[in-house]
Amino acid sequence: MLAALSAAPDQTAMVGESSFFVDPNDDDLLESRNSVFWEAMLDNIRRDRFGRVPKRVLDIGCHRGGLLARIAELWGGDALFGIEPIPAARARAQLRLASCAKTVQILSPEQWKLVPDRSLDLVVCHEVLFTIEDLRGLVGNIARVLASGGRAYVVAGCHAENPVWSMWRDAFEREGRQVYTHRPLELMGFAGEFGLNPAVRPLRETGWATYDPADNVFAFPSVGALLDHQFRHKLLFRLAQK
Ligand SMILES: C[S@@+](CC[C@H](N)C(=O)[O-])C[C@H]1O[C@@H](n2cnc3c(N)ncnc32)[C@H](O)[C@@H]1O
Repeated sequence: MLAALSAAPDQTAMVGESSFFVDPNDDDLLESRNSVFWEAMLDNIRRDRFGRVPKRVLDIGCHRGGLLARIAELWGGDALFGIEPIPAARARAQLRLASCAKTVQILSPEQWKLVPDRSLDLVVCHEVLFTIEDLRGLVGNIARVLASGGRAYVVAGCHAENPVWSMWRDAFEREGRQVYTHRPLELMGFAGEFGLNPAVRPLRETGWATYDPADNVFAFPSVGALLDHQFRHKLLFRLAQK
């Protein structure tokens, strides 16, 4: 059911040198599949009385840099950072974003320390938590790099409270892929521990749920499950630096 992924150690989910999915076509389709969710996240950020234009931005799990490119298009960019374990995706993102901001640094998860302390207006992260074992470490890094008044917006649909996740998780595991099941309240608890103000809402509440049952990456057993996933369980967290 799920496109399998190749292996890697430590807290980084198992990823290949050049693709997240075993079938690289799925990597090619990732941006068009996810753009509706990226736009929903960006709409929420726009409507959220964010008191500054976010010019210094980090995307955690930035893949080939599509979301950072869209953010630079919307708000301009002084500094764009990405964290991404796949070397080929990092290289593509670095090239694609080169002319989008004065500083562009696409880093591996081992290079988090190169993102300066208290430097960023905005951190975004879309559907990456299930690939990361050390959620507390991730939230600690977010708290460290956010400037005063900065915010992180984290989208997660693959989590312990979403009934379809156990099905997708089992399929990942059958394919030898290490994934992690985090509880939404765990994320919010870590945020509080690191001095951030945690908040949560559904990412989208209305609209069309586009879905082709031939899509074998994240399959749904019913339309009800699809709608519950898209409009109820796919969560947007806001972690605000005081
Ligand atoms: C499901 S994809 C989502 C990609 C992108 N955020 C999007 O919305 O299209 C998960 C991404 O997280 C990356 N990833 C895996 N482990 C990671 C880690 N430890 N830190 C940051 N990113 C990671 C993967 O390589 C992949 O690009």
